[in-house]
Amino acid sequence: MGHGHERRELLRDVVYERVRDRILDGSLPADAKLPSTRAYAAELGLARGTVEEAYARLAAEGYVVGLGPAGTRVRALEVSAPSRPAARHARVPSDGDRFAAGRGLPLGLGVPGLSEFPFEAWARSLARAARRTSRKELASTDAAGEASLRVAIAAHVGLARGVRCEPSQIVVTSGYQSALVLAALATVGPRGTAHVEDPGYPKTREALAALGLRVIAAKVDGEGLRVDTLGGARPALVAVTASHQMPTGVCLSLARRLALLDWASSRDDRWLVEDDYDGEFHYSGSPLPALFAVDRHERTLHAGTFSKSLFPGLRVGFLVAPPGLAAPVRRLSALVAPSVPAVVQRALADFIASGKLARHVARMRKLYARRRAAVLDALREHLGGRAVVEEGSGGLHLLVHWRGGPDDRDVARRGAAQGLGVRALGEYRLARASRQGVLVGFANVPERSAAGAVARLAAAFDASPPPGGP
Ligand SMILES: Cc1ncc(COP(=O)(O)O)c(C=O)c1O
Repeated sequence: MGHGHERRELLRDVVYERVRDRILDGSLPADAKLPSTRAYAAELGLARGTVEEAYARLAAEGYVVGLGPAGTRVRALEVSAPSRPAARHARVPSDGDRFAAGRGLPLGLGVPGLSEFPFEAWARSLARAARRTSRKELASTDAAGEASLRVAIAAHVGLARGVRCEPSQIVVTSGYQSALVLAALATVGPRGTAHVEDPGYPKTREALAALGLRVIAAKVDGEGLRVDTLGGARPALVAVTASHQMPTGVCLSLARRLALLDWASSRDDRWLVEDDYDGEFHYSGSPLPALFAVDRHERTLHAGTFSKSLFPGLRVGFLVAPPGLAAPVRRLSALVAPSVPAVVQRALADFIASGKLARHVARMRKLYARRRAAVLDALREHLGGRAVVEEGSGGLHLLVHWRGGPDDRDVARRGAAQGLGVRALGEYRLARASRQGVLVGFANVPERSAAGAVARLAAAFDASPPPGGP
């Protein structure tokens, strides 16, 4: 068989699977019209015949029916209907953000409890910001962010996270990702080395690798990032989720914090980037302040976001640079990641300065504490004998882990089929490990639904074959 033929078969299969999967997940419902073979081939840059063959196979297998000039339509199928939220989600292309997939579903991650979002108060802040914008302000832009918002953020991180800084040390970004990029470019540059937690947040390593940095995995244990596994590469940065390790939920111990700060301050080309994505949320004892707050050597850049304290669609985060890096970070921000719309920033400044953010966070913390307790209880009841439920002390998710049981990705897939948003620990890993686990978000789970959602998770766990099993 020639290569050309093989390639054509492969492409035909890709087209076939893409359409079939959309039919099975409900995003192409019964009677939906497929694009014409000509249009679809042009869109995909393929020969029309390849698409025709794929459609012919779909028709032969009964997924679609060809109606001649009237096109090709999806048949009414008795597919085991995916739960509605999953189907709705599948319509959102998730190519760019595979982590968007389980968002908003029960036990999913990444979205705070939005049912409690104070729409009225937020709308008032937005309206006020829009009304009070002067003509001069319509023209002015500050790439580092609106002065009023930087003042408000400085006060907020001081109170909430013990971070003492001047507004001039802050740049407002479109979320964590841009803050990370700025931090990396301002410190080690694209030829530097980045130590990332393993397991860790995939977007951190992917973004740093996309910038060209050499990315090295640093181990994580029950005290958080293992500082002794950092090598001697230079220049180097460490990206760390100190307050609530993503995904294990561990709070970096004081001893580790001091060791990490020691590591960073021992040379002038070592830096720390603190991803404080959910540091506002803690439920027992008093939380350790941010790493930035205890760094006397000015090696830490602190990235914060409003994605958890308010809502992810806001797309506002910030980076706090140590004084010596403030000017380079501002210059870089003007070049590669200018700030977000001024009216949104002024609204947020108003929301923070008037105390509404603090009130909202305090309220949500209480609500999350109850939701977390309900999910914890249910996890212990349904999975207690088979898996370890790791509490951590803060954040918006819990880790459930086990050894020797089913494959975690399989459990997460089966959970997804049950309409759950749980994620597999394996997705957060670089190195292979015997420990399996799932990440269970509780922010979006009303107490009364916790037991039901966790029971479905337990069913997914039980239905998943053990390793090497059938
Ligand atoms: C580990 C981690 N860092 C940062 C973020 C926040 O990202 P962003 O500010 O881009 O919404 C998240 C959100 O899910 C996260 O899980």
